[in-house]
Amino acid sequence: VDDLTRAYQAATPRSGELHQEFRRVLPAGVTRSVAHFDPYPAVLVDGRGCLVHDIDGNEYIDVLNNYTSLVHGHAFAPVTERVRAAMESGVVFPAPHPAQLELARAITDRYPAARQVRFTNSGTEAALLALRIARAATGRSIVVLFDGGYHGSVGELLDRGPHTRRAPYNNVDALGQVVDDSVAAVFVEPFLGSGGVIPADPEFLRELERRCHATGALFVFDEVQALRNAPNGTHALLGLAPDLLLMGKIIGGGFPVGAVGGAAGLLAVLDGELQHSGTFNGNVATMTAGIAALDALDASRIATLNGRAKQLSSELAAAGRATGLDVTVSRAGSIMHVHVPDQQVSALHLALLMEGIYAAPRGMLNLSTALDDNTIDRVGRAYAAAFKRVAHSRTTVATGSDG
Ligand SMILES: Cc1ncc(COP(=O)(O)O)c(C=O)c1O
Repeated sequence: VDDLTRAYQAATPRSGELHQEFRRVLPAGVTRSVAHFDPYPAVLVDGRGCLVHDIDGNEYIDVLNNYTSLVHGHAFAPVTERVRAAMESGVVFPAPHPAQLELARAITDRYPAARQVRFTNSGTEAALLALRIARAATGRSIVVLFDGGYHGSVGELLDRGPHTRRAPYNNVDALGQVVDDSVAAVFVEPFLGSGGVIPADPEFLRELERRCHATGALFVFDEVQALRNAPNGTHALLGLAPDLLLMGKIIGGGFPVGAVGGAAGLLAVLDGELQHSGTFNGNVATMTAGIAALDALDASRIATLNGRAKQLSSELAAAGRATGLDVTVSRAGSIMHVHVPDQQVSALHLALLMEGIYAAPRGMLNLSTALDDNTIDRVGRAYAAAFKRVAHSRTTVATGSDG
């Protein structure tokens, strides 16, 4: 056990004890694979704005924001106030509700690719539904996915299957071989999100769109993460007109959500041919939270988030270089990824926790509107200190001393 692990265990004894209890009743002790890390994840008990606390009383600045979904941080007052009020009069009905109309209007007003919208409970479900729509609309079965891409936790979109084809991301030359007239849909993100926040070359996306149009394959643009980065979505920013738009995360204001947007003509399959249900689709808590969150995410807030992220990412890269580590920082809008060599990824994550920063174990971080300039300065200083810890632990390993 190295120094950083020992320090983390010393700071989080209660989480350590509880981990055994969690493991008894939850596989791996968690409810999603990404929530686990070694030696065990700290048990979080509250979140306010940009701060979270664990059960041992440690405070962290949250730059993970539940994997980009909490764009306004935790317990954002406009969301909690509206949801609390809605709770008083019932939060789920097997019927149309005005809150569904309000959120659907907010989405269709904002995102040009979403002329109509069908709500789901997660981005994963939205991706599955888009695949069904594409197959119904084209009568074809093949789906093209890109290496490093992620469209949710479902076998057919994760693995190689009989109906999936994979292609390298950002490689225009490979498109001709994979996108042909047997393809129902091509799923692509504007940047590889869980694949390391690697932005697409806009020309790659444009060529892909052209190729889809030429072959009749549906161009499915996955903005589950990217939606927060541009007022009208990244598709509008890049001048793309996807057939289907996958949405999620921020449009639920922190509650479980997903949605498929598209032209009315295409979504018309849901008006008969294709059955699509979900007990909690369009529930009032999610709809209400989504309305409040989108309302508060106007163009100027997005510009501020993106500007701060740009500044922070260059500071983090400089701080990394100053310690002699091989650090690079990639960014798309307000989402960043700090890349270090594989053998230092978990050390950096633990070092960040010890410096009071809650980031993704894999290296991703993102900003929320709850972070002000002062707090972002603290984040920068904490990363600099964490890089030093990693550089130091590397030195001690290299010299054979375990301190
Ligand atoms: C690009 C992208 N698509 C789809 C999903 C799946 O969304 P969910 O986790 O809500 O199922 C994610 C989740 O991280 C994502 O980043």
